Amino acid sequence: MMLFDKLIVFVFAVVVAAVPFEVDDRFGHIAERATYYSSSWNDGKGKVVYKNGPEGQYSVTWSGNKGNFVVGKGWNPGGSRIVAFNGTFAPNGNAYLCVYGWTTSPLVEYYIIENYGSHAPWDNPEQKSKGNVTVDGSTYTLWTKMRINKPSIQGTATFPQFWSVRDADDLRSGGSVDTGAHFKAWADNGLKLGRQNYMIVAVEGQDSNGTASVNVGVAP
Ligand SMILES: *[C@@H]1O[C@H](CO)[C@@H](O)[C@H](O)[C@H]1NC(C)=O
Ligand SMILES: *[C@@H]1O[C@H](CO)[C@@H](O)[C@H](O)[C@H]1NC(C)=O
Ligand SMILES: *[C@@H]1O[C@H](CO)[C@@H](O)[C@H](O)[C@H]1NC(C)=O
Repeated sequence: MMLFDKLIVFVFAVVVAAVPFEVDDRFGHIAERATYYSSSWNDGKGKVVYKNGPEGQYSVTWSGNKGNFVVGKGWNPGGSRIVAFNGTFAPNGNAYLCVYGWTTSPLVEYYIIENYGSHAPWDNPEQKSKGNVTVDGSTYTLWTKMRINKPSIQGTATFPQFWSVRDADDLRSGGSVDTGAHFKAWADNGLKLGRQNYMIVAVEGQDSNGTASVNVGVAP
């Protein structure tokens, strides 16, 4: 019994001592929960209140029915991973709930749309259709369009957007998104990403109002 107690104390001490040095690889999920990347951008035209909560949580309330914003939490850099999320999404007007990110060289802004408000993102005369991909319980249609002299992570620039838009019958505010499947489908259809910059589970709103509350890293 005595020996057993000592063994427990010994094992406990080793684990505690090991944590500060090995938190990134051996306890990757713990490190990840503590280090979600948070991003909040808006063009200053509407009122946007973004609350960055603990771990993967955030909420946003927006009003004014003007302007554009994108907020959310995730990773920097982004990449191929299974993104679990769970939330509420209640827009009035045009807004998206999505996995959203950027790459550089080439500069690309990308969207994996899970839910949207009044406006279907593919319904834009500039969008070019690039096929579809079936993953995570639905078929997503693939699209691209050019942005000319628009805001970007490198200042005002000209760059393409890549879009995967979940089927209108399957829109959802929680689940898991296999980002690598979308990256591959884009590449297979000639849409090449560059080096990953940030990738977040985002809420974007445009000329609208609403509320959303999201928990990244937690499946519904
Ligand atoms: C996420 O799911 C849990 C369990 O189903 C629920 O209690 C929680 O409210 C959800 N979070 C959000 C932001 O919807
Ligand atoms: C929110 O947006 C909807 C749809 O555009 C609009 O009808 C409504 O008046 C807006 N509400 C507020 C409080 O601005
Ligand atoms: C997906 O692409 C296939 C092959 O091009 C096509 O036959 C099918 O109609 C497309 N489905 C949707 C939902 O766009």
